[in-house]
Amino acid sequence: MKGEMMNRNEVKNSPLPPVEQIEFGRIFAPNLVMADNKTGDWEALRVEPLHNLSLHPAAVVLHYGQAIFEGMKAFRRVDGSIGLFRPEDNAQRFIDSAKRLLLPPMSVEQFVEAVNKAVQFNLDYVPPRPGSLYLRPVMLGTEAQIGVRGSKEALFYLISLPSGAYFKSSTGVSPMIDIYVDQTTSRAARGGTGNVKAAANYAITLQSIDNAKKKGCSQVLYLDAVNHDLIEEMGGMNIFFYLNGKLVTPNLKGTILPGVTRASVIEAAKTLGITVEERPVTIQEVTDAANSDKDMEAFACGTAATVVGIKSFLFENGNTLHLPETKQDNVTGQLLKYVQDIQFGAAPDVHNWTRIVPID
Ligand SMILES: Cc1ncc(COP(=O)(O)O)c(C=O)c1O
Repeated sequence: MKGEMMNRNEVKNSPLPPVEQIEFGRIFAPNLVMADNKTGDWEALRVEPLHNLSLHPAAVVLHYGQAIFEGMKAFRRVDGSIGLFRPEDNAQRFIDSAKRLLLPPMSVEQFVEAVNKAVQFNLDYVPPRPGSLYLRPVMLGTEAQIGVRGSKEALFYLISLPSGAYFKSSTGVSPMIDIYVDQTTSRAARGGTGNVKAAANYAITLQSIDNAKKKGCSQVLYLDAVNHDLIEEMGGMNIFFYLNGKLVTPNLKGTILPGVTRASVIEAAKTLGITVEERPVTIQEVTDAANSDKDMEAFACGTAATVVGIKSFLFENGNTLHLPETKQDNVTGQLLKYVQDIQFGAAPDVHNWTRIVPID
């Protein structure tokens, strides 16, 4: 019996399937980048074969949730090189998240070095377009102690996952998603952690996501915690509307994650000559527009899906708001193409977003 048991630290590597068959989040590349912080300073990064972690049962993260993470991608480009998309922005957000959770921040340089290493050591696991290598840097408070205070020890690790399309389309055309509007649960409140990537932000949305899935929706839209009428964001994506000829997105006000894709879409739209407004948006304004503006569009954006159109909003009382039918070459489609073409090196990077991974 004993001989049949798998070593607890042994993790099986899956081979890389064709890109159209890769299910997001389920296949892990074979190498892990890690670093320890036992004295207040980060030790050098090291690369290890993917393995399970060993934590003391009293590790601070397991009781008090001292955990943060990031999400970014490496793209196989038209010229054969591999590019990272705005990695310094993820590094800065990782620093902001670490500070908010009282974890020891890593420098931008060390973060970018970790990301480069993850790609260099998992090169065969970067799928071709439209796939990419999803990179998930994580930081945990690991000191063994019971008592609500910050850990004096931290662990950094970075797992890499080959990814295909985040949302699958049965028709082959760009998919569109149905959104559940959560009018009860709050994801973030003023003074909380909504503007950083704390693992706790996601724990409190799991019940809501499960509820939305049971109702046939793939994402949840959260509203402001005070009156539940201002639109904030989804559980893992920011949101945009094309209303009366302008691109509108909720302004960052401490409760919304400042998405790297959100910032890129804003820059892209301005370059395409589209007027952009970052301002409060009420659910009523969107409902009115859906009934009166035949050119209205709504889309979600984030690293995982880039830009994805929204086709309906389902409310708690069962009412559904259907958005006008998608037109060819609409604003959502133009912005998706604009950002993706730069990510895959198919268009000149006039914004200087790309960093090529050094490979010898
Ligand atoms: C809550 C939330 N909002 C927005 C985003 C989009 O951010 P980004 O474009 O940096 O991936 C994410 C994903 O990281 C997220 O988890």
